[in-house]
Amino acid sequence: MENCDKKAKRYTVTTALPYANGPVHIGHLAGVYVPADTFVRYLRLKGKEVLFVGGSDEHGVPITIKAEKEGVTPQDVVDRYHKIIKDSFEELGMSYDIYSRTSSDTHHKTAAAFFKKLYDDGKFVEKETEQFFDPERNKFLSDRYIMGTCPKCGNDRAYGDQCEKCGSSLSPDELINPHSTISGAQLVKKPTKHWYLPLEQYENWLREWILEGHKEWKPNVYGQVKSWLDSGLQPRAVTRDLDWGVPVPLDEASGKVLYVWFDAPIGYISNTIEYCEKNGGDWEKWWKNPDTQLVHFIGKDNIVFHCIIFPCMLKAYGDGYILPENVPANEFLNLENDKISTSRNWAVWLHEYLTDFPGKQDVLRYVLTANAPETKDNNFTWKDFQDRNNNELLAIFGNFVNRTLVLTHKFYGGIVPAAENLDESDKETIAEMNEYPAKIGKLIEIYKFREALSELMNLARLGNVYLTKNEPWKQIKTNPERVATVMNISLQIVAKLALLSEPFLPFSAKKLQDMLNIKQNGWNDAEKTTLIEAGHTVNQPTLLFEKIEDAAIEAQMKKLEDAKKTNELNAWKPAETKPTVSFDDFGKVDIRVGTVLECAKVPKADKLLQFLIDDGAEKRTIVSGIAKYYTEPEKLVGKQVCFIANFAPRKLKGIESQGMILSAEDRDGRLVLITPSDLVAAGCSVG
Ligand code: 2FM
Ligand code: ZN
Repeated sequence: MENCDKKAKRYTVTTALPYANGPVHIGHLAGVYVPADTFVRYLRLKGKEVLFVGGSDEHGVPITIKAEKEGVTPQDVVDRYHKIIKDSFEELGMSYDIYSRTSSDTHHKTAAAFFKKLYDDGKFVEKETEQFFDPERNKFLSDRYIMGTCPKCGNDRAYGDQCEKCGSSLSPDELINPHSTISGAQLVKKPTKHWYLPLEQYENWLREWILEGHKEWKPNVYGQVKSWLDSGLQPRAVTRDLDWGVPVPLDEASGKVLYVWFDAPIGYISNTIEYCEKNGGDWEKWWKNPDTQLVHFIGKDNIVFHCIIFPCMLKAYGDGYILPENVPANEFLNLENDKISTSRNWAVWLHEYLTDFPGKQDVLRYVLTANAPETKDNNFTWKDFQDRNNNELLAIFGNFVNRTLVLTHKFYGGIVPAAENLDESDKETIAEMNEYPAKIGKLIEIYKFREALSELMNLARLGNVYLTKNEPWKQIKTNPERVATVMNISLQIVAKLALLSEPFLPFSAKKLQDMLNIKQNGWNDAEKTTLIEAGHTVNQPTLLFEKIEDAAIEAQMKKLEDAKKTNELNAWKPAETKPTVSFDDFGKVDIRVGTVLECAKVPKADKLLQFLIDDGAEKRTIVSGIAKYYTEPEKLVGKQVCFIANFAPRKLKGIESQGMILSAEDRDGRLVLITPSDLVAAGCSVG
């Protein structure tokens, strides 16, 4: 988009449809959703016609695996996460025109019809290949359902697409002893027919359209496309042997569905159709009118699908479909210098953030834009989150707004004073402030949201410098006319901020407009010097941003530490079994049950408890290193424990210990006493 004033009349803006098998996290937001919403809000302020399309991607194997694990249906899984994602997006202020789902009827019909037309037009090639088949379940298995021994590291739990132990990418054919994860059965190979989109036929066209025609695309996107094209495209199967997805609309294809990456991008079209069915209007104007620009916001892992496969599908379909004008994919966001990971729960989840920081949507939007991974992977830290809120939003933006409005009330009862006799510095400030709308707008148009946001903050900085330099609080006694001018100009800067911050900080912009008692105007209006007339009454200021205290940040860090601990525990494996012992050797150890008669901490020994045990014949003292785990030792009195009765006595802290009490060591090192599951006679043997 060179300059959106001149070119497109309308925009179809899409965001990657997140898989509905988990909530969304800050990585998704920074990469895709926050920049898309900023872009759309800006376009609307520019007076453009925009359709902002989102929705859930509800097909694909991971969803069925999750459902099987939980013993529910795939539909249950997607219903749950679709709601969580949709609600949290809404609360974050995502201004979608439609947020629907690929399990909808409209989508099933649209995707099936799309496939059927390509099929009828002879755009696919059919191929029969041998695939792994589970004879017990009577079905073909996708890679994730196949397990076997990794040929590289010997891990016997490697998947058909990857070994999670050594990280190698695999194909099911490489696995040694491949078997089904569902039934455990040995797999057999059986022929199956699938339909392929011959991507190689589109190579020249893609080269011309992207490599020649879209040199302005972001280098990361352009580079990835180029490297795919340079290594040669292969036919891509667009169907799968699965029972969850859009059924392939051919009689000969029963038990087959569309490949999730074939149906998902069609979801953008289906959701447009659904929107137009509900709201009136012609869906085709959003997809087939050359005056419309299509922009896909995605993460870098989706580039090939949006820049190569989906465009080939649209091209193959013909019928006037437009192609993306741009695909401003972002890189990834890390969290506290570590890769965000759903399976390790190393993430900040949007729905949890919204609960933990109510009313602070704009803070998250701000931090994620300021740190957006636009050109390289970037990092989110809670400390940076706190600093940006306290030192930027609060100290620069909020402080300027607050000072200006408080003084306006103090000096003029909230009525905007007139500006007169402007001096050179006033004129310079006005000229500078009037440059911001175009400056920020241009950066947004070329998807440089970080820079655009930093220019917005520069406008607030300009306001602060202007106020501080003119010291209206000092001059009010000696030079009231001058103060009126200074306050008028400061209020114009505040009004500009109220407008220009809308794409980035929609909640604060609205609050600010309410404080100023003004209505949102178009973006171009912001170039005017006077946005609030003298004589207009502004409302009392309320705080735009609040300080974020250390305690809130510590609580978030604790959450992450807990996640790390849980991961470590989950990664725990029992120790290797010790070398075999003979029956006779084992018989030498005399394990018995005893009843605790007394139990107390050993003075001056953190770890030790002293037990007095009834062993059935007499009382014996045993010292055991479990004090840390039993902090109320008196409560153990009356319990039965197992102990080694013929353990050689030894002295611990001067006490002779006549045996050893048995305990289990849990994954986290915690020691737990072994007790019989029923009451037994003291002194009876364990074996
Ligand atoms: O990577 C993902 O999360 C995919 N569900 C994105 C799909 S985008 C589109 F094509 F629908
Ligand atoms: Zn391996």
